[in-house]
This record gives sequence, structure tokens and C-alpha cells, in this order.
Amino acid sequence: MKEQLEKLREATIELISGLSDEKALNDARTRILGRKGQLTGFLRGLKDLDPEERARMGQLANQIKIDLEQSFDRMETAIRERMEEQRLAAEFVDVTLPGRRSPIGRSHILHRVTDELIDVFAGLGFQLAEGPEVELDYYNFEALNIPRDHPARDMQDTFYFSDNVVLRTHTSPVQIRTMEKQQPPVRVICPGKVYRRDADITHSPMFMQIEGLWVDRGISFADLKGVLTAFVQEYFGKDVGLRFRPSFFPFTEPSAEVDIRCVICGGEGCRTCSQTGWLEILGSGMVDPVLYGFVNYDPSVYTGFAFGMGIERVAMLKYRIPDIRAFYENDVRFLNQF
Ligand code: DAH
Repeated sequence: MKEQLEKLREATIELISGLSDEKALNDARTRILGRKGQLTGFLRGLKDLDPEERARMGQLANQIKIDLEQSFDRMETAIRERMEEQRLAAEFVDVTLPGRRSPIGRSHILHRVTDELIDVFAGLGFQLAEGPEVELDYYNFEALNIPRDHPARDMQDTFYFSDNVVLRTHTSPVQIRTMEKQQPPVRVICPGKVYRRDADITHSPMFMQIEGLWVDRGISFADLKGVLTAFVQEYFGKDVGLRFRPSFFPFTEPSAEVDIRCVICGGEGCRTCSQTGWLEILGSGMVDPVLYGFVNYDPSVYTGFAFGMGIERVAMLKYRIPDIRAFYENDVRFLNQF
């Protein structure tokens, strides 16, 4: 019996040393030390021995039991420590790796250009004014001297909500709304979205304009030229030439369009300027006194000038963007450049 016990001890210690996971270790512990385990079996068998033998074997078996329990405990601790080490190794964080940057947003190029334009005119004393995009026919057309059935409406076909409500076709209605609310002096700049039934490589059914209006005593065409020249030089550069070309708008008299020297070819003639050397950038003119009748200004006291330009067009010329659709496609590779 003694031999058997010693054998069991050796076999068990060898078994334990070969185990590497907790479950196998627990199973082995149950198989040997559990209630129906091998060593427990020996202890039960002791009662059949004579007393002297029983005492010796009992002592030995108990000692073995204690030894094996210690072996199991030591191994269990070792396995747990190893697993903890493995877990920590797997969770290792390399603090020297560079962090992941979250992309930083930025304002859209059209909003940037709008802000730049507002800044230039703010420097010339203009204040910001805004009006609704869903506009009454009255402000968009009638009060700007574009009566119903007038051929000038053809150039600005738009989206009608009803006979009297449209998506505004230009920012000029903000002129009327501003003058309606206050007597001169008015000096405002009015940016915003406008809509027309129009779509090709240079036209979008929705685009942006910025409108200017300055009405006061003694405002003349010289002021118009002075302000617009200052604007062009400030925004496009001191050396960029410009010219005023007679034109027609129902709400100004006289009217002039402003061209700048082609920013692409410098005036030699290229595709962008259709070989003319000039690029049209805005419409302008002295406010037609007919408008003052709509807003209760005294035309014998006040005069003024107005202008309007397309923000996309200005942005395309300033940043050399060939296709208007790039602004609205929201391709971040394009937008990130600005
Ligand atoms: N509203 C005109 C357009 O959309 C642009 C314009 C021309 C505005 C002359 C003005 C102006 O204020 O005086 O084509």
C-alpha cells in the first residue's frame, strides 16, 4: 500500500507539472483529491487495515494529501499568473504610436468667399442685410420695375409656388425690403442664395449672389465707380484692370456691367474669356427713381447706386475653378483644397 501511495504521489506530481490550463488542473484535482478521487479511495480503504498499519498508512496518506494539495495550489497560482501576463501582453498599448486624428471640418469655399466679400464691403462702410429666399413676386419683380408680362422676366424664369410667390431669382429684392424699412442713408451688402430655371456647365438652378446698395444725398455715378474699383482692386489685386460697359437693367438707369482683365491670360485672350481678354463680374447702375416710388423715398432728395454679382463666378475667377458644379458635389478632395 505504501508503494501505491508513493506512486500515486509521484504520478500526480508529474501530471501536475505537465498541465497548463486551469480547467485541466481542476479536473485532475477532482480525479485525485475529490470525494470519489483516487487518494480519497485509499483513505477509505484504511479502515480494513490493522490498527498499527492503519495509523502509519493514515499518516502517510494525509501527508501526501497535504503535499498534493500544495502542488495543485502552486500550479494553479502559476497558471493564473501566466494567463494574467498573457492578457496584459495582448492588451499592450504602444503609447509611442501617433494618435488617430479626427478630420477637422471647415466652412465651404462659397461661404468663405461670401465672408471675404462681406469683409471688403464692410471696410467700405456697408452693413449686412438679408432677405427671404421664398419671395413675393412684388419684391422680386414688381417693385424692381419688372411688371408682369414684361419681356425682362424671360431672363429670370424661376420656380413658382403660386402666382405671387416665387423662389427669388436675384438678391435685388433685399434692396426693396431694406429701403421699405428705413429712410436713407442706406449702405448695405446682401448675400444669399437665388434660383433660376437654368442648368449647364456655368449655370446652376441654385446659386449665390451678393447685392450692394448705397442711397443717400448726392450719391453719383462717380461713387459707383469709386466703390467698385476699390472692391476689384482689394479683392482681385491692385494691378487688375477693369472697365465699365453700358448695359441695361430694369431697376437701374443708367446701368453698367463691370468687366475685369482676364485673370487667366492677363488680357491676351483665352478660352475662359472667349478671346476677349475681359471677364464680366457684375451688374450695376444708378437706382432707377421709379423704385423710390415703391419705398417712399423722395427722388428729388436722394440718389443711389446698386450692384449685384454671382458669388460662384467670383470664386471661380479668384480660385481658378473651371466647373460650377464642383461647388455642390461635396467631394471633400475638392473642398479640402480651400
Ligand atoms: N439682379 C441682377 C441679376 O441678377 C444683377 C444686378 C444688376 C443687380 C444691376 C443690381 C444692379 O443691383 O444694379 O442679374
